[in-house]
Amino acid sequence: MLHDPNHIYIFDTTLRDGEQVPGCQLTTPEKIEIARELENLGVDIIEAGFPISSPGDFQSVVEISKAVQHPTICALTRANRGDIDVAVDALRYAKTPRIHTGIGSSDMHIKYKFNSTREEILARAVDAVKYAKRFVEDIEFYAEDAGRADIQYLALMVESVIAAGATVVNIPDTNGYCLPDQYGSKIRYLKENVKNIDKAIISVHCHNDLGLATANSIAGLQNGARQVECTINGIGERAGNTSMEEVVMILKTHLGLNLSTTINTRNFYEISNMVSSQMRMPVQPNKAIIGSNAFAHSSGIHQDGFLKNRENYEIIKPEDVGFPSATIVLTARSGRHALKFHLERLGYNLDKSELNEVYQLFLTLADGKLDINDEDLNLLVSQRLVKQS
Ligand code: KIV
Ligand code: ZN
Repeated sequence: MLHDPNHIYIFDTTLRDGEQVPGCQLTTPEKIEIARELENLGVDIIEAGFPISSPGDFQSVVEISKAVQHPTICALTRANRGDIDVAVDALRYAKTPRIHTGIGSSDMHIKYKFNSTREEILARAVDAVKYAKRFVEDIEFYAEDAGRADIQYLALMVESVIAAGATVVNIPDTNGYCLPDQYGSKIRYLKENVKNIDKAIISVHCHNDLGLATANSIAGLQNGARQVECTINGIGERAGNTSMEEVVMILKTHLGLNLSTTINTRNFYEISNMVSSQMRMPVQPNKAIIGSNAFAHSSGIHQDGFLKNRENYEIIKPEDVGFPSATIVLTARSGRHALKFHLERLGYNLDKSELNEVYQLFLTLADGKLDINDEDLNLLVSQRLVKQS
């Protein structure tokens, strides 16, 4: 397969792994709306659902396949022919379909989930890929719980499924267990020891149980993976999946990594709000990139530095992710520089001693009020005028 060696394929699984969050289930029309936004955003692959899981999920994959033109449409299956038949049927309208099939790869899963043996699981993996390949050219294989799998067995599994026709091999850290250097080393090992690895793309799929999903995904990319599986706002099972906006902005910010995507980052804020409201899943205010405080400066030291040069405290421009603008929040921790900035915005040009007086009044008010708005500032200035006259 020919592809730009520095291009990172963005595989969005908001509508599959993301939608597995309890209480976040979407209707087919809602999923189509998100899928269209993902297409505008420029993702390469949309995982549209797990068709055998329910008639609604099946229908969503059918309708998304009709509604979306550019991204590859992917459907999830377990490693069995029944699941694959249903996924093939659901993908019948997709311009570029992909089947995502797979099975557990750790001894934990082999023994306690499948009550099976390594040999039997390997045979099932190969059979699933060969079977899916009869219907669809693009087959992604996931080695579930690869984060805890024996590396030599994982390498054998990866080599066998590529020989059977897999075009993408997904190495999920299903339980969010790995440290970044462990996960990165796993990817490097596969890259260096699987003899047919050049025939497939390695994909990273990380969960956030220890808060390391983004770090692990980046470590995987630095070690040779070229596809990243992620969700908008990082939603997903338990503590979530890798957040797309974080990975993409890391690659955009650290040009030295020499890895790029085709994502229109200016659409992030809008799609984040859409996903959050449709899934009834609020975004934490301090969420990197798109949280409501991501570009809010509130302490005096930061505000002063920011007002002198925004790059003192901003490594990303808010407009680059579609965020309305940076804000200078007035609280009891704010300094004179921030107060002056807001007063001038309202048309008050005070000299040094006038500013000092208003600042004292401001601090008294701010100690008892969480945030100070324009109305408060107008009142403070008029109080000072009253005091003077
Ligand atoms: O986390 C995981 O292992 C998965 C697979 C189904 C790809 O979501
Ligand atoms: Zn997952």
